[in-house]
Amino acid sequence: MTESGEAQGGQPLCIGVPKELTAGERRVAATPESVKRLIGKLGFRVLVEAGAGDEAGFPDRLFAEAGATIVGRAAVWSDADLLIKVNAPLLDPAAGVDEAAGARPGLTLLSPIQPAQNSALVNHLAAKGMTVLALDCVPRITRAQKSDVLSSMANIAGYRAVIEAAHRFGGFFGGQMTAAGKTPPAKVLVIGAGVAGLAAIGAARSLGAVVRAFDVRPSVRDQIKSMGAEFLTVELEESGEGAGGYAKTMSPEFIAAEMALFRAQAKEVDIVITTALIPGQPAPELWTEDMVRSMRPGSVVVDLAAAQGGNCKLTVPGENINWNGVHLIGYTDLTSRLPTVASRFFANNIVNLLEDMGGAAGWKIDLEDEVVRGCVVLQAGALLWPPPKRAAPPAPPAPPPSAAPPAKAGHGHGASASPPSRWSSVAALVAAAAALGLASVAPPGFVQHFTVFMLSCIVGWQVIWSVNHALHTPLMSVTNAISGIILVGGVLQAGAEPTSLAGVLGAVAILISSVNIVGGFLVTHRMLQMFRKGA
Ligand code: NAI
Repeated sequence: MTESGEAQGGQPLCIGVPKELTAGERRVAATPESVKRLIGKLGFRVLVEAGAGDEAGFPDRLFAEAGATIVGRAAVWSDADLLIKVNAPLLDPAAGVDEAAGARPGLTLLSPIQPAQNSALVNHLAAKGMTVLALDCVPRITRAQKSDVLSSMANIAGYRAVIEAAHRFGGFFGGQMTAAGKTPPAKVLVIGAGVAGLAAIGAARSLGAVVRAFDVRPSVRDQIKSMGAEFLTVELEESGEGAGGYAKTMSPEFIAAEMALFRAQAKEVDIVITTALIPGQPAPELWTEDMVRSMRPGSVVVDLAAAQGGNCKLTVPGENINWNGVHLIGYTDLTSRLPTVASRFFANNIVNLLEDMGGAAGWKIDLEDEVVRGCVVLQAGALLWPPPKRAAPPAPPAPPPSAAPPAKAGHGHGASASPPSRWSSVAALVAAAAALGLASVAPPGFVQHFTVFMLSCIVGWQVIWSVNHALHTPLMSVTNAISGIILVGGVLQAGAEPTSLAGVLGAVAILISSVNIVGGFLVTHRMLQMFRKGA
């Protein structure tokens, strides 16, 4: 691949989509829809291995209609400039397995890699001079959400966990009252309310279950409640809020209090879905043997963390076992069990990342870009992982020692008046003086309207200055609505007496409010664009 983003031979860059070899994998890294975007919008060529999308519901015919060329396995690896995959390439030298054996020199691979756990694979790909972007290392920041495969897959896994639980559970999720008897709603406990946990809460609630959830991060309390679940708490106050929206390790005292809570819950609930995760660490063991023993026969535990050692040590990764009458589900392929939607989300995440990296024409591995830097593991064989820790934002400058304590944000009171307060005081004085002056010459009705007008100006000034900057976009929409009212008033005045002073002022009001409405929408649009790019 050349620096300019052109493949050798002057052709546009070529993306390869192989069939996944991991046992039981049904997903594929591209869909006919995503191929259309890759070719039409981003200017790539696309090679798809024959049969790659069969198990996800995307036959070769649809890929070909979307513009892809259907080729054999060897050609995907040897002819593509960029290879996109759902799973890391298989490598087992003892068994003679090397999925990347046919990779062309200088190939760029975009795939989940788990570089911390897969150093042998990373070294192997480095020896081939490959460039590797680990899709599982896309940082969890707002701007990168559209490329975050872990979140989109966790969302699907949370949903599917409930479906698996419902399949094994011997009763209804929602309560029923029929002539043949009544049954109460199932009680579901969700441990860990990150992406997968919240999706599980949503799915269980929509089936009618009574849902409780626990998480060490207090910030998820409102999200849990807004989804209709009960947020369980322990007596001990300790926040598990870690960096980047993930959790941190809790103290032994907290874990003990949490376990006591779970022990009590184990006797009551029918279904437990565990999703607790601390990045880079084995899954915390939270659902113990004695808890499983105290569950009613027929109950179900779905352990999403099975692949990381399990939140329940009795879980067998990849299996559904019956332990003392309780179903323990440790499937590690929950996303692959919804292959169509999982492939679609995965493919969209990749297209979004490739678009942000410049598409075919502007392709660049920009190490200054936080998202790209976060996931580059190898560049032309050179190890660039882990990425350097980002410097913390600079601390705000300390106030000068002689300064009076700052006024409470947004109120403008205190020893040193803030700008809004100072200006609004001046405006109030001017308004009062003008009203007094006019009172002697103008008709009484005008003075009344003028006073209301000046007071509105002062109140509006105060309101806008006191609103947090983060809320200026919705505020802009509100002011647009207010300007709409002024526009109507102006039209009425200008229409009734176009040549009078009121008519002229009405015309001026129409002009100014139109500028405000159009300008407001433009500014709102621009701010939303800035938010999308994370500028
Ligand atoms: P996440 O990081 O968004 O959520 C994990 C949550 O666990 C966080 O809210 C965290 O605060 C909470 N947590 C950590 N320690 C806890 C503790 N001691 N008690 C209670 N809560 C605790 O992770 P995400 O993306 O939701 O993934 C959850 C799990 O699902 C991961 O283990 C992931 O590997 C797994 N997963 C499994 C799949 C499968 O097929 N089995 C597919 C996709 C994801």
